[in-house]
Amino acid sequence: MIQTEKQAIAEVAAPLVGLAADEVAALIEYPPNPELGDLALPCFRFAKVLRKAPPAIAADLADQLAATGRFESVQATGGYVNVRVARGRVARTLISALSAHPETVFSRQSSAGDTVAIDYSAPNIAKPFGVGHLRSTVIGHALANLFRADGATVLGVNHLGDWGTQFGKVIAAYLRWGDEETVRRDPVKELFHLYVRFHAEAKDNPELDDEGRAWFKRLEDGDPEATRLWQWFIDESLKVFQAMYDRLGVSFEFTLGESFYNDKMDAVVDELRSRGLLTESDGALVVDLSEWNMPPCIILKSDGATIYPTRDLAAALYRHDVLGANRLFYVVGGEQTLHFQQVFKVLELMGRDWAANCRHVAFGMMKYNGERMSTRRGKVVYLEDVLDRAVADTRQIIEAKNPDLPDKDWVAEQVGIGAVVFNDLKNYRMHDVDFRYEDVLNFDGETGPYVQYTHARACSVLRRAASEFPSDLTTDLAPAEGPLLDSEWALVTEMGKANEVFERALAQFDPSLMARLVLDVCHAFNRFYHDAPILAAPDAQTRAFRLGLTDATRRFIAYTLGLLGLRAPEAM
Ligand code: ARG
Repeated sequence: MIQTEKQAIAEVAAPLVGLAADEVAALIEYPPNPELGDLALPCFRFAKVLRKAPPAIAADLADQLAATGRFESVQATGGYVNVRVARGRVARTLISALSAHPETVFSRQSSAGDTVAIDYSAPNIAKPFGVGHLRSTVIGHALANLFRADGATVLGVNHLGDWGTQFGKVIAAYLRWGDEETVRRDPVKELFHLYVRFHAEAKDNPELDDEGRAWFKRLEDGDPEATRLWQWFIDESLKVFQAMYDRLGVSFEFTLGESFYNDKMDAVVDELRSRGLLTESDGALVVDLSEWNMPPCIILKSDGATIYPTRDLAAALYRHDVLGANRLFYVVGGEQTLHFQQVFKVLELMGRDWAANCRHVAFGMMKYNGERMSTRRGKVVYLEDVLDRAVADTRQIIEAKNPDLPDKDWVAEQVGIGAVVFNDLKNYRMHDVDFRYEDVLNFDGETGPYVQYTHARACSVLRRAASEFPSDLTTDLAPAEGPLLDSEWALVTEMGKANEVFERALAQFDPSLMARLVLDVCHAFNRFYHDAPILAAPDAQTRAFRLGLTDATRRFIAYTLGLLGLRAPEAM
Protein backbone atom coordinates (compact mmCIF):
# COMPACT_ATOMS: atom_id res chain seq x y z
CA MET A 1 0.00 0.00 0.00
CA ILE A 2 2.83 2.32 0.87
CA GLN A 3 4.42 0.65 -2.12
CA THR A 4 1.66 2.17 -4.27
CA GLU A 5 2.56 5.65 -3.02
CA LYS A 6 6.25 4.98 -3.66
CA GLN A 7 5.37 3.80 -7.12
CA ALA A 8 3.37 6.96 -7.78
CA ILE A 9 6.31 9.12 -6.73
CA ALA A 10 8.70 7.02 -8.77
CA GLU A 11 6.61 7.23 -11.91
CA VAL A 12 6.70 11.01 -11.83
CA ALA A 13 10.38 11.19 -10.99
CA ALA A 14 11.69 8.42 -13.25
CA PRO A 15 11.56 10.19 -16.63
CA LEU A 16 13.07 13.31 -15.09
CA VAL A 17 16.07 11.53 -13.61
CA GLY A 18 16.53 8.98 -16.37
CA LEU A 19 16.01 5.81 -14.31
CA ALA A 20 13.37 3.09 -14.38
CA ALA A 21 10.45 3.63 -12.01
CA ASP A 22 11.33 0.53 -9.99
CA GLU A 23 14.86 1.80 -9.45
CA VAL A 24 13.59 5.13 -8.19
CA ALA A 25 11.01 3.43 -5.94
CA ALA A 26 13.79 1.41 -4.36
CA LEU A 27 15.56 4.62 -3.34
CA ILE A 28 12.62 6.03 -1.41
CA GLU A 29 13.11 6.10 2.35
CA TYR A 30 11.04 6.44 5.48
CA PRO A 31 12.27 9.68 7.07
CA PRO A 32 13.45 9.11 10.62
CA ASN A 33 11.66 12.25 11.74
CA PRO A 34 7.95 12.04 10.81
CA GLU A 35 7.73 15.85 10.96
CA LEU A 36 9.55 15.84 7.64
CA GLY A 37 7.03 13.70 5.86
CA ASP A 38 5.99 10.11 5.30
CA LEU A 39 8.35 9.29 2.44
CA ALA A 40 11.55 10.89 1.21
CA LEU A 41 13.37 10.65 -2.10
CA PRO A 42 17.09 11.43 -1.82
CA CYS A 43 18.35 13.16 -4.98
CA PHE A 44 22.11 12.81 -4.52
CA ARG A 45 22.34 9.86 -6.90
CA PHE A 46 20.90 11.91 -9.77
CA ALA A 47 23.34 14.84 -9.52
CA LYS A 48 26.03 13.39 -11.73
CA VAL A 49 23.84 12.50 -14.68
CA LEU A 50 21.71 15.64 -14.50
CA ARG A 51 24.74 17.89 -13.83
CA LYS A 52 22.78 19.73 -11.23
CA ALA A 53 23.05 20.13 -7.46
CA PRO A 54 20.81 17.77 -5.45
CA PRO A 55 18.78 20.61 -3.83
CA ALA A 56 17.94 22.01 -7.26
CA ILE A 57 16.85 18.57 -8.48
CA ALA A 58 14.77 18.11 -5.33
CA ALA A 59 13.08 21.45 -5.92
CA ASP A 60 12.18 20.52 -9.52
CA LEU A 61 10.86 17.12 -8.53
CA ALA A 62 8.86 18.64 -5.68
CA ASP A 63 7.07 20.95 -8.13
CA GLN A 64 6.20 18.08 -10.42
CA LEU A 65 4.96 15.90 -7.59
CA ALA A 66 2.89 18.69 -6.09
CA ALA A 67 1.28 19.25 -9.48
CA THR A 68 -0.19 15.72 -9.45
CA GLY A 69 -2.47 16.67 -6.57
CA ARG A 70 -2.14 13.16 -5.19
CA PHE A 71 -0.17 14.06 -2.10
CA GLU A 72 -1.01 16.03 1.02
CA SER A 73 2.18 18.05 0.73
CA VAL A 74 5.51 17.94 -1.05
CA GLN A 75 8.58 19.79 0.05
CA ALA A 76 12.19 20.00 -1.04
CA THR A 77 14.55 20.08 1.93
CA GLY A 78 18.22 20.05 1.03
CA GLY A 79 18.78 17.19 -1.36
CA TYR A 80 15.55 15.42 -0.38
CA VAL A 81 12.01 15.57 -1.61
CA ASN A 82 9.79 15.01 1.39
CA VAL A 83 6.30 13.79 0.69
CA ARG A 84 3.36 13.64 3.01
CA VAL A 85 0.89 11.19 1.59
CA ALA A 86 -2.90 11.37 1.89
CA ARG A 87 -2.83 9.36 5.09
CA GLY A 88 -6.57 8.86 5.41
CA ARG A 89 -6.84 7.51 1.88
CA VAL A 90 -3.84 5.21 2.28
CA ALA A 91 -5.20 3.92 5.59
CA ARG A 92 -8.63 3.16 4.16
CA THR A 93 -7.19 1.41 1.11
CA LEU A 94 -5.05 -0.77 3.34
CA ILE A 95 -7.88 -1.59 5.71
CA SER A 96 -10.25 -2.64 2.98
CA ALA A 97 -7.58 -4.64 1.16
CA LEU A 98 -6.73 -6.52 4.34
CA SER A 99 -10.33 -7.37 4.95
CA ALA A 100 -11.11 -8.46 1.38
CA HIS A 101 -7.85 -9.94 0.04
CA PRO A 102 -5.07 -9.96 2.64
CA GLU A 103 -2.75 -11.81 0.22
CA THR A 104 -2.67 -8.83 -2.16
CA VAL A 105 -1.23 -6.67 0.59
CA PHE A 106 1.78 -8.99 0.67
CA SER A 107 2.44 -10.52 -2.69
CA ARG A 108 2.58 -9.39 -6.28
CA GLN A 109 2.66 -13.01 -7.46
CA SER A 110 6.19 -12.66 -8.77
CA SER A 111 6.75 -16.43 -8.53
CA ALA A 112 3.75 -17.37 -10.67
CA GLY A 113 4.82 -19.98 -13.21
CA ASP A 114 7.69 -21.26 -11.06
CA THR A 115 7.80 -24.78 -9.69
CA VAL A 116 9.99 -24.68 -6.63
CA ALA A 117 11.29 -27.82 -4.94
CA ILE A 118 12.18 -27.04 -1.34
CA ASP A 119 14.21 -29.63 0.54
CA TYR A 120 13.62 -29.23 4.27
CA SER A 121 13.61 -31.11 7.54
CA ALA A 122 15.35 -34.31 6.28
CA PRO A 123 15.94 -35.99 9.64
CA ASN A 124 17.84 -39.24 9.87
CA ILE A 125 16.05 -42.47 10.66
CA ALA A 126 16.96 -44.05 13.98
CA LYS A 127 18.58 -40.82 15.12
CA PRO A 128 17.06 -38.03 17.15
CA PHE A 129 15.24 -35.29 15.34
CA GLY A 130 17.64 -32.66 16.56
CA VAL A 131 17.24 -28.95 16.91
CA GLY A 132 19.20 -28.45 13.67
CA HIS A 133 16.48 -30.38 11.91
CA LEU A 134 13.97 -28.20 13.70
CA ARG A 135 15.59 -25.12 12.16
CA SER A 136 15.50 -26.68 8.72
CA THR A 137 11.88 -27.71 9.24
CA VAL A 138 10.51 -24.36 10.35
CA ILE A 139 12.57 -22.23 7.97
CA GLY A 140 11.77 -24.55 5.06
CA HIS A 141 8.09 -24.67 5.92
CA ALA A 142 7.92 -20.88 6.16
CA LEU A 143 9.72 -20.50 2.83
CA ALA A 144 7.33 -22.99 1.26
CA ASN A 145 4.42 -20.87 2.53
CA LEU A 146 6.01 -17.65 1.26
CA PHE A 147 6.70 -18.99 -2.22
CA ARG A 148 3.25 -20.55 -2.40
CA ALA A 149 1.69 -17.22 -1.39
CA ASP A 150 3.77 -15.63 -4.13
CA GLY A 151 2.16 -17.83 -6.74
CA ALA A 152 4.72 -20.62 -7.11
CA THR A 153 3.86 -24.30 -7.24
CA VAL A 154 5.80 -25.53 -4.24
CA LEU A 155 7.04 -29.08 -3.83
CA GLY A 156 8.14 -29.62 -0.26
CA VAL A 157 10.49 -32.60 -0.17
CA ASN A 158 11.58 -34.52 2.90
CA HIS A 159 14.92 -36.13 1.97
CA LEU A 160 14.98 -38.59 4.88
CA GLY A 161 18.32 -40.04 5.86
CA ASP A 162 17.19 -43.63 5.49
CA TRP A 163 20.23 -45.28 3.92
CA GLY A 164 23.85 -45.86 4.80
CA THR A 165 26.23 -48.10 6.68
CA GLN A 166 24.78 -47.01 10.02
CA PHE A 167 21.71 -49.15 9.29
CA GLY A 168 23.90 -52.24 9.36
CA LYS A 169 25.05 -51.21 12.80
CA VAL A 170 21.57 -50.53 14.10
CA ILE A 171 20.40 -53.91 12.84
CA ALA A 172 23.35 -55.66 14.47
CA ALA A 173 22.82 -53.77 17.73
CA TYR A 174 19.10 -54.50 17.73
CA LEU A 175 19.65 -58.21 17.19
CA ARG A 176 22.17 -58.32 20.03
CA TRP A 177 20.56 -56.15 22.68
CA GLY A 178 17.23 -54.85 21.50
CA ASP A 179 13.69 -56.05 21.79
CA GLU A 180 10.61 -55.25 19.84
CA GLU A 181 8.56 -53.97 22.73
CA THR A 182 11.09 -51.30 23.78
CA VAL A 183 11.52 -50.10 20.23
CA ARG A 184 7.78 -49.83 19.75
CA ARG A 185 7.38 -47.86 22.95
CA ASP A 186 9.90 -45.17 22.08
CA PRO A 187 11.44 -45.95 18.69
CA VAL A 188 13.69 -42.98 18.05
CA LYS A 189 15.26 -42.90 21.48
CA GLU A 190 15.66 -46.67 21.70
CA LEU A 191 17.19 -47.05 18.22
CA PHE A 192 19.55 -44.20 18.90
CA HIS A 193 20.41 -45.73 22.25
CA LEU A 194 21.27 -49.01 20.50
CA TYR A 195 23.38 -47.15 17.97
CA VAL A 196 25.32 -45.30 20.67
CA ARG A 197 25.88 -48.55 22.58
CA PHE A 198 27.10 -50.20 19.39
CA HIS A 199 29.76 -47.51 18.98
CA ALA A 200 30.82 -47.71 22.59
CA GLU A 201 31.17 -51.48 22.55
CA ALA A 202 32.81 -51.57 19.12
CA LYS A 203 35.78 -49.71 20.61
CA ASP A 204 36.82 -52.78 22.59
CA ASN A 205 35.28 -55.29 20.30
CA PRO A 206 36.15 -54.60 16.67
CA GLU A 207 34.31 -57.69 15.37
CA LEU A 208 31.15 -55.69 15.99
CA ASP A 209 32.11 -53.42 13.13
CA ASP A 210 32.43 -56.40 10.83
CA GLU A 211 29.03 -57.56 11.96
CA GLY A 212 27.56 -54.13 11.18
CA ARG A 213 29.20 -54.07 7.77
CA ALA A 214 27.92 -57.55 7.01
CA TRP A 215 24.36 -56.51 7.85
CA PHE A 216 24.59 -53.47 5.64
CA LYS A 217 25.85 -55.65 2.82
CA ARG A 218 22.85 -57.94 3.32
CA LEU A 219 20.59 -54.90 3.25
CA GLU A 220 22.16 -53.72 0.00
CA ASP A 221 21.69 -57.17 -1.47
CA GLY A 222 18.02 -57.19 -0.59
CA ASP A 223 18.17 -59.83 2.14
CA PRO A 224 14.58 -60.18 3.47
CA GLU A 225 15.47 -60.14 7.19
CA ALA A 226 17.70 -57.07 6.86
CA THR A 227 15.11 -55.33 4.69
CA ARG A 228 12.29 -56.13 7.09
CA LEU A 229 14.14 -54.68 10.09
CA TRP A 230 15.30 -51.61 8.17
CA GLN A 231 11.77 -50.91 6.92
CA TRP A 232 10.42 -51.40 10.41
CA PHE A 233 12.91 -48.89 11.84
CA ILE A 234 11.81 -46.40 9.20
CA ASP A 235 8.12 -46.95 9.90
CA GLU A 236 8.57 -46.60 13.65
CA SER A 237 10.77 -43.50 13.35
CA LEU A 238 8.37 -41.91 10.90
CA LYS A 239 5.54 -42.30 13.37
CA VAL A 240 7.47 -40.19 15.86
CA PHE A 241 8.49 -37.65 13.21
CA GLN A 242 4.95 -37.48 11.86
CA ALA A 243 3.55 -36.74 15.30
CA MET A 244 5.99 -33.84 15.50
CA TYR A 245 5.13 -32.58 12.03
CA ASP A 246 1.46 -32.68 12.98
CA ARG A 247 2.11 -30.59 16.06
CA LEU A 248 4.20 -28.13 14.05
CA GLY A 249 1.59 -28.03 11.28
CA VAL A 250 4.25 -29.01 8.77
CA SER A 251 3.68 -31.16 5.73
CA PHE A 252 5.45 -32.22 2.55
CA GLU A 253 4.37 -32.93 -0.98
CA PHE A 254 6.96 -35.71 -1.14
CA THR A 255 8.74 -37.85 1.39
CA LEU A 256 11.53 -39.42 -0.63
CA GLY A 257 14.39 -40.68 1.47
CA GLU A 258 17.92 -41.30 0.29
CA SER A 259 17.06 -44.95 -0.33
CA PHE A 260 14.52 -43.91 -2.95
CA TYR A 261 17.46 -43.20 -5.25
CA ASN A 262 19.06 -46.64 -4.92
CA ASP A 263 17.89 -47.68 -8.36
CA LYS A 264 18.68 -44.28 -9.89
CA MET A 265 22.37 -44.20 -9.06
CA ASP A 266 23.69 -46.27 -11.95
CA ALA A 267 22.34 -43.80 -14.44
CA VAL A 268 24.14 -40.95 -12.69
CA VAL A 269 27.42 -42.84 -12.52
CA ASP A 270 27.10 -43.91 -16.16
CA GLU A 271 26.44 -40.40 -17.34
CA LEU A 272 29.36 -38.99 -15.36
CA ARG A 273 31.55 -41.69 -16.82
CA SER A 274 30.43 -41.15 -20.41
CA ARG A 275 30.92 -37.41 -20.07
CA GLY A 276 34.46 -38.13 -18.96
CA LEU A 277 33.97 -36.47 -15.62
CA LEU A 278 35.09 -39.37 -13.41
CA THR A 279 38.66 -39.79 -12.28
CA GLU A 280 40.15 -42.29 -9.89
CA SER A 281 41.54 -41.22 -6.58
CA ASP A 282 42.70 -43.73 -3.94
CA GLY A 283 40.44 -46.35 -5.45
CA ALA A 284 37.42 -44.09 -5.31
CA LEU A 285 35.75 -42.50 -8.32
CA VAL A 286 35.49 -38.74 -8.03
CA VAL A 287 34.78 -35.61 -10.02
CA ASP A 288 37.85 -33.42 -9.90
CA LEU A 289 36.90 -29.88 -8.88
CA SER A 290 40.36 -28.46 -8.25
CA GLU A 291 39.85 -25.94 -11.02
CA TRP A 292 37.18 -24.37 -8.80
CA ASN A 293 39.25 -24.66 -5.65
CA MET A 294 37.14 -27.40 -4.22
CA PRO A 295 38.07 -30.87 -3.04
CA PRO A 296 36.94 -33.67 -5.37
CA CYS A 297 33.30 -34.71 -5.22
CA ILE A 298 33.28 -38.39 -4.33
CA ILE A 299 30.85 -40.43 -6.42
CA LEU A 300 31.76 -44.05 -5.69
CA LYS A 301 33.72 -45.12 -2.64
CA SER A 302 36.58 -47.60 -3.06
CA ASP A 303 34.21 -50.42 -2.12
CA GLY A 304 31.94 -49.36 -4.96
CA ALA A 305 29.21 -47.90 -2.71
CA THR A 306 27.55 -44.65 -3.68
CA ILE A 307 27.42 -41.90 -1.14
CA TYR A 308 25.63 -38.78 -0.04
CA PRO A 309 26.67 -36.54 -2.98
CA THR A 310 25.78 -39.23 -5.54
CA ARG A 311 22.32 -39.43 -4.00
CA ASP A 312 21.91 -35.68 -4.11
CA LEU A 313 22.82 -35.67 -7.80
CA ALA A 314 20.19 -38.32 -8.49
CA ALA A 315 17.69 -36.44 -6.32
CA ALA A 316 18.28 -33.13 -8.11
CA LEU A 317 17.82 -34.75 -11.51
CA TYR A 318 14.64 -36.40 -10.26
CA ARG A 319 13.23 -33.16 -8.88
CA HIS A 320 13.96 -31.32 -12.10
CA ASP A 321 13.21 -33.99 -14.72
CA VAL A 322 10.41 -35.96 -13.10
CA LEU A 323 8.79 -33.56 -10.64
CA GLY A 324 9.19 -30.59 -12.99
CA ALA A 325 10.90 -28.17 -10.63
CA ASN A 326 12.73 -25.25 -12.24
CA ARG A 327 14.12 -23.91 -8.98
CA LEU A 328 15.66 -26.18 -6.29
CA PHE A 329 16.27 -24.99 -2.74
CA TYR A 330 17.97 -26.88 0.06
CA VAL A 331 17.32 -25.72 3.59
CA VAL A 332 20.26 -27.40 5.31
CA GLY A 333 22.74 -26.29 7.97
CA GLY A 334 25.81 -24.27 7.07
CA GLU A 335 28.16 -27.20 7.73
CA GLN A 336 27.03 -28.66 4.39
CA THR A 337 27.92 -25.61 2.31
CA LEU A 338 30.81 -27.31 0.55
CA HIS A 339 28.72 -30.39 -0.19
CA PHE A 340 26.11 -28.32 -2.02
CA GLN A 341 28.70 -26.23 -3.85
CA GLN A 342 30.18 -29.48 -5.13
CA VAL A 343 26.84 -30.98 -6.10
CA PHE A 344 25.73 -27.83 -7.94
CA LYS A 345 29.07 -27.61 -9.74
CA VAL A 346 28.86 -31.25 -10.85
CA LEU A 347 25.33 -30.63 -12.16
CA GLU A 348 26.69 -27.72 -14.14
CA LEU A 349 29.50 -29.88 -15.51
CA MET A 350 26.84 -32.40 -16.50
CA GLY A 351 25.44 -29.68 -18.73
CA ARG A 352 22.40 -28.85 -16.62
CA ASP A 353 22.02 -25.11 -17.04
CA TRP A 354 19.34 -25.10 -14.36
CA ALA A 355 22.12 -25.75 -11.83
CA ALA A 356 22.16 -21.96 -11.64
CA ASN A 357 18.68 -22.14 -10.08
CA CYS A 358 19.85 -24.41 -7.27
CA ARG A 359 20.37 -22.74 -3.98
CA HIS A 360 21.65 -23.87 -0.61
CA VAL A 361 19.68 -22.00 2.03
CA ALA A 362 21.96 -22.33 5.03
CA PHE A 363 21.24 -21.21 8.58
CA GLY A 364 22.98 -20.51 11.86
CA MET A 365 23.35 -22.94 14.69
CA MET A 366 20.92 -23.55 17.48
CA LYS A 367 22.38 -23.20 20.95
CA TYR A 368 20.51 -24.61 23.84
CA ASN A 369 20.85 -22.52 26.97
CA GLY A 370 24.03 -21.12 25.49
CA GLU A 371 25.59 -24.49 24.63
CA ARG A 372 26.24 -25.99 21.24
CA MET A 373 24.65 -29.30 20.68
CA SER A 374 25.98 -32.28 18.89
CA THR A 375 24.63 -35.76 18.56
CA ARG A 376 28.10 -37.17 18.65
CA ARG A 377 29.02 -35.73 21.99
CA GLY A 378 25.86 -37.21 23.38
CA LYS A 379 24.35 -33.80 24.16
CA VAL A 380 21.08 -34.64 22.60
CA VAL A 381 18.00 -32.58 23.05
CA TYR A 382 14.94 -34.34 21.75
CA LEU A 383 12.57 -32.04 19.99
CA GLU A 384 9.52 -33.86 21.32
CA ASP A 385 10.73 -33.08 24.85
CA VAL A 386 11.29 -29.43 23.97
CA LEU A 387 7.78 -29.13 22.56
CA ASP A 388 6.22 -30.91 25.55
CA ARG A 389 7.96 -28.68 28.01
CA ALA A 390 7.10 -25.49 26.09
CA VAL A 391 3.45 -26.49 26.04
CA ALA A 392 3.42 -27.48 29.74
CA ASP A 393 5.03 -24.20 30.77
CA THR A 394 2.57 -22.26 28.62
CA ARG A 395 -0.30 -24.15 30.23
CA GLN A 396 0.90 -22.91 33.63
CA ILE A 397 1.24 -19.33 32.45
CA ILE A 398 -2.31 -19.43 31.09
CA GLU A 399 -3.55 -20.98 34.32
CA ALA A 400 -2.04 -18.06 36.23
CA LYS A 401 -3.08 -15.29 33.83
CA ASN A 402 -6.42 -16.39 32.50
CA PRO A 403 -7.82 -19.38 34.43
CA ASP A 404 -11.29 -19.06 32.86
CA LEU A 405 -10.07 -19.32 29.29
CA PRO A 406 -12.02 -21.93 27.30
CA ASP A 407 -10.01 -24.60 25.44
CA LYS A 408 -6.94 -24.09 27.60
CA ASP A 409 -5.19 -27.21 26.33
CA TRP A 410 -5.64 -26.31 22.70
CA VAL A 411 -4.46 -22.75 23.27
CA ALA A 412 -1.45 -23.92 25.30
CA GLU A 413 -0.49 -26.24 22.45
CA GLN A 414 -0.72 -23.45 19.85
CA VAL A 415 1.12 -20.94 21.99
CA GLY A 416 3.78 -23.33 23.30
CA ILE A 417 4.63 -24.71 19.87
CA GLY A 418 4.32 -21.26 18.31
CA ALA A 419 6.83 -19.96 20.85
CA VAL A 420 9.43 -22.51 19.78
CA VAL A 421 8.82 -21.88 16.08
CA PHE A 422 8.81 -18.10 16.34
CA ASN A 423 12.01 -18.10 18.38
CA ASP A 424 13.62 -19.94 15.54
CA LEU A 425 12.35 -17.55 12.88
CA LYS A 426 12.79 -14.14 14.43
CA ASN A 427 16.54 -13.80 13.93
CA TYR A 428 18.29 -13.49 10.61
CA ARG A 429 18.54 -16.92 9.11
CA MET A 430 22.34 -17.00 9.25
CA HIS A 431 22.51 -15.94 12.89
CA ASP A 432 22.79 -18.50 15.66
CA VAL A 433 19.68 -19.05 17.71
CA ASP A 434 19.75 -19.31 21.44
CA PHE A 435 17.05 -21.32 23.07
CA ARG A 436 15.95 -20.62 26.65
CA TYR A 437 12.47 -21.43 27.80
CA GLU A 438 12.14 -18.22 29.84
CA ASP A 439 12.92 -16.08 26.80
CA VAL A 440 10.99 -18.10 24.30
CA LEU A 441 7.81 -18.05 26.37
CA ASN A 442 8.03 -14.47 27.61
CA PHE A 443 4.66 -12.87 26.77
CA ASP A 444 6.23 -9.40 26.80
CA GLY A 445 9.38 -10.12 24.83
CA GLU A 446 9.84 -10.38 21.09
CA THR A 447 8.20 -13.76 21.06
CA GLY A 448 5.51 -15.84 19.44
CA PRO A 449 3.30 -15.55 22.53
CA TYR A 450 3.63 -11.76 22.39
CA VAL A 451 2.48 -11.67 18.77
CA GLN A 452 -0.33 -14.14 19.42
CA TYR A 453 -1.33 -12.17 22.51
CA THR A 454 -1.52 -8.96 20.50
CA HIS A 455 -3.73 -10.75 18.00
CA ALA A 456 -5.98 -12.00 20.81
CA ARG A 457 -6.15 -8.48 22.25
CA ALA A 458 -7.35 -7.10 18.90
CA CYS A 459 -9.91 -9.91 18.70
CA SER A 460 -11.15 -9.10 22.17
CA VAL A 461 -11.66 -5.42 21.29
CA LEU A 462 -13.66 -6.51 18.26
CA ARG A 463 -15.75 -8.94 20.33
CA ARG A 464 -16.67 -6.16 22.72
CA ALA A 465 -17.43 -3.84 19.83
CA ALA A 466 -19.70 -6.45 18.30
CA SER A 467 -21.91 -6.41 21.37
CA GLU A 468 -21.64 -2.71 22.24
CA PHE A 469 -21.37 -0.92 18.90
CA PRO A 470 -22.36 -3.39 16.21
CA SER A 471 -23.22 -0.65 13.74
CA ASP A 472 -19.69 0.79 13.96
CA LEU A 473 -18.18 -2.41 12.65
CA THR A 474 -18.22 -1.56 9.02
CA THR A 475 -15.88 -1.94 6.13
CA ASP A 476 -17.43 1.10 4.55
CA LEU A 477 -15.14 3.49 6.36
CA ALA A 478 -15.82 7.17 6.20
CA PRO A 479 -12.69 9.30 6.46
CA ALA A 480 -11.84 9.84 10.09
CA GLU A 481 -12.47 13.40 11.27
CA GLY A 482 -9.28 15.43 11.16
CA PRO A 483 -5.80 14.09 10.55
CA LEU A 484 -4.72 10.63 11.68
CA LEU A 485 -3.02 10.38 15.03
CA ASP A 486 0.68 9.60 14.83
CA SER A 487 0.08 6.22 16.47
CA GLU A 488 -2.64 5.39 13.94
CA TRP A 489 -0.43 6.37 11.05
CA ALA A 490 2.57 4.48 12.46
CA LEU A 491 0.47 1.33 12.52
CA VAL A 492 -0.69 1.90 8.94
CA THR A 493 2.92 2.50 7.85
CA GLU A 494 4.19 -0.71 9.39
CA MET A 495 1.43 -2.79 7.79
CA GLY A 496 1.89 -0.90 4.54
CA LYS A 497 5.45 -2.23 4.32
CA ALA A 498 4.14 -5.80 3.87
CA ASN A 499 4.73 -5.80 0.15
CA GLU A 500 8.33 -4.69 0.13
CA VAL A 501 9.30 -6.79 3.16
CA PHE A 502 7.65 -9.87 1.65
CA GLU A 503 9.61 -9.39 -1.55
CA ARG A 504 12.83 -8.94 0.37
CA ALA A 505 12.12 -12.08 2.41
CA LEU A 506 11.74 -14.06 -0.82
CA ALA A 507 14.82 -12.56 -2.44
CA GLN A 508 16.91 -13.32 0.65
CA PHE A 509 15.20 -16.64 1.42
CA ASP A 510 14.72 -15.29 4.89
CA PRO A 511 11.40 -15.62 6.70
CA SER A 512 12.84 -13.70 9.66
CA LEU A 513 12.08 -10.48 7.79
CA MET A 514 8.38 -11.32 8.04
CA ALA A 515 8.77 -12.19 11.72
CA ARG A 516 10.45 -8.81 12.38
CA LEU A 517 7.70 -7.06 10.47
CA VAL A 518 4.91 -8.66 12.46
CA LEU A 519 6.75 -7.72 15.67
CA ASP A 520 6.90 -4.10 14.46
CA VAL A 521 3.21 -4.22 13.66
CA CYS A 522 2.47 -5.57 17.14
CA HIS A 523 4.53 -2.82 18.78
CA ALA A 524 2.70 -0.24 16.67
CA PHE A 525 -0.69 -1.76 17.49
CA ASN A 526 0.04 -1.78 21.21
CA ARG A 527 1.10 1.88 21.06
CA PHE A 528 -2.08 2.71 19.16
CA TYR A 529 -4.14 0.71 21.66
CA HIS A 530 -2.76 2.70 24.60
CA ASP A 531 -2.78 6.01 22.79
CA ALA A 532 -6.11 6.06 20.96
CA PRO A 533 -9.34 5.09 22.75
CA ILE A 534 -11.08 2.62 20.47
CA LEU A 535 -14.40 1.75 22.07
CA ALA A 536 -14.39 5.08 23.89
CA ALA A 537 -13.57 7.07 20.75
CA PRO A 538 -15.02 10.61 20.70
CA ASP A 539 -17.52 9.90 17.91
CA ALA A 540 -18.94 7.02 15.92
CA GLN A 541 -16.95 7.83 12.83
CA THR A 542 -13.62 7.76 14.66
CA ARG A 543 -14.69 4.61 16.45
CA ALA A 544 -15.54 2.93 13.15
CA PHE A 545 -12.17 3.93 11.74
CA ARG A 546 -10.26 2.63 14.76
CA LEU A 547 -12.24 -0.59 14.77
CA GLY A 548 -11.43 -0.94 11.09
CA LEU A 549 -7.78 -0.49 11.89
CA THR A 550 -8.03 -3.02 14.71
CA ASP A 551 -9.69 -5.55 12.44
CA ALA A 552 -7.06 -4.97 9.77
CA THR A 553 -4.32 -5.54 12.35
CA ARG A 554 -5.91 -8.77 13.51
CA ARG A 555 -6.04 -10.03 9.93
CA PHE A 556 -2.53 -8.86 9.23
CA ILE A 557 -1.12 -10.71 12.24
CA ALA A 558 -3.08 -13.89 11.56
CA TYR A 559 -1.99 -13.90 7.91
CA THR A 560 1.66 -13.33 8.73
CA LEU A 561 1.66 -15.91 11.51
CA GLY A 562 0.13 -18.33 9.04
CA LEU A 563 3.01 -17.70 6.63
CA LEU A 564 5.46 -18.40 9.42
CA GLY A 565 3.64 -21.58 10.41
CA LEU A 566 1.95 -20.39 13.62
CA ARG A 567 -1.69 -20.39 14.63
CA ALA A 568 -3.43 -17.28 15.90
CA PRO A 569 -5.84 -18.16 18.75
CA GLU A 570 -8.63 -15.61 19.24
CA ALA A 571 -8.32 -15.58 22.99
CA MET A 572 -5.52 -16.49 25.36
N1 ARG B 1 19.77 -35.98 6.48
C1 ARG B 1 20.77 -34.97 6.30
C2 ARG B 1 21.36 -34.57 7.65
O1 ARG B 1 20.73 -34.76 8.66
C3 ARG B 1 20.23 -33.71 5.66
C4 ARG B 1 19.78 -33.90 4.25
C5 ARG B 1 19.60 -32.59 3.55
N2 ARG B 1 19.09 -32.70 2.21
C6 ARG B 1 19.81 -33.11 1.15
N3 ARG B 1 19.22 -33.17 0.00
N4 ARG B 1 21.07 -33.41 1.25
O2 ARG B 1 22.45 -34.05 7.70
